[in-house]
Amino acid sequence: MSSETAFHPVELLRWDGIRSWNAYGVNINESVVKNTVQLFETLGLKDAGYEYISIDDGWSAFERTPDGFLQANSTRFPDGMANLADYVHSKGLKIGLYGDSGKLTCAFHPGSSGYEERDALTYAEWGIDYLKYDNCGGFASMVEAPEVRFGAMNDALKLSGRDISYAVCEWGYQFPWHWGGNIGHSYRMAGDITASFINETGCACKTAYCLNTGYAGCSVVTNIKKMREISQYQTPGHWADMDGLEIGNINMTIYQQQTHFTFWAALKSPLIISTDLATLSHESTALLTNKDIIALNQDSLGKVVNYVETASTEGSIQVWAGEIQDGHVVLLFNEKSFQQTYKVSFNSLGLNIAGLKGVKELWSGKSYGKSHTIAAKLAPYQTLVFKLAM
Ligand code: GAL
Repeated sequence: MSSETAFHPVELLRWDGIRSWNAYGVNINESVVKNTVQLFETLGLKDAGYEYISIDDGWSAFERTPDGFLQANSTRFPDGMANLADYVHSKGLKIGLYGDSGKLTCAFHPGSSGYEERDALTYAEWGIDYLKYDNCGGFASMVEAPEVRFGAMNDALKLSGRDISYAVCEWGYQFPWHWGGNIGHSYRMAGDITASFINETGCACKTAYCLNTGYAGCSVVTNIKKMREISQYQTPGHWADMDGLEIGNINMTIYQQQTHFTFWAALKSPLIISTDLATLSHESTALLTNKDIIALNQDSLGKVVNYVETASTEGSIQVWAGEIQDGHVVLLFNEKSFQQTYKVSFNSLGLNIAGLKGVKELWSGKSYGKSHTIAAKLAPYQTLVFKLAM
């Protein structure tokens, strides 16, 4: 399918939400889901536009039913998935589940290889709205090309009769930016993110040239670095998923959290909160519900920011710029553990700013009039986000 004929509209960026894996691992159950639904309302996440409550690996029994159907783990989900889906829907939210293209999931629950149509029908019958589909499963299934394995479930979901958003989770192996977006609504662009802001050894990404290597130990910064090369493949409906947000899972400074959230938003990754909401600080909640940054993620133009190599200094300052529906956005990221001042000249970034109406930094709300040049002070690991209204 060419990008012109792909069936995914820009609106499908609206499957921001929460997913269980990074906070709970396989220890997920019905009451965690119900509490999360409750907290979605009380913390203002639902009002901010987060919509999908997704349950990752660990939800199913270790065996299929005797006649070969997937079934929920009856101890953890005593009411079953269809009832849980009804509950989530009754609160005006949507529900996601996790499956796998191999014989087994990564936590050794049944995978969907050979059962794609049957499992897609099961998801549809239960009322599932979103499926994350993984890449584990052993030799027998891994010998098939990922397009085939992930394509089979895409076809099955389309036949299921229910509109189910499809998140390909193939860890950034085998260049999913070339095929993943045509098969799913998103594709994971790297191995698993861990609760780490910066990690120069995990995920094998020390320089810009770190594309297809490394599975485990990705950090916030490694995934940002990987996007320097592949942001060019982001087009509406072909979204790279930078993995769950680690905000709330480790001690990050407020500036590190802002950097994390800014890049996920401006690079059009789905915004998937991945923490225990009951322990999320007020500061982090406010950050995750920042309307200006969420608006960048959901911008109707559907364009990403791209790395501006000529204006950046490797390992020190990253400059990114892109177009939004009513202007441009410029990100300045201080990759160092000390404060730096950076003089940015918007004219030199290849942006057409004739007719500039005003410049505003989105995290502080500070206005810079019609300045074309700004000497920006950046705290350690801080990202400033300049919106250039046109
Ligand atoms: C990994 C996947 C993670 C998580 C985990 C569950 O393969 O990348 O995001 O879903 O499996 O076992």
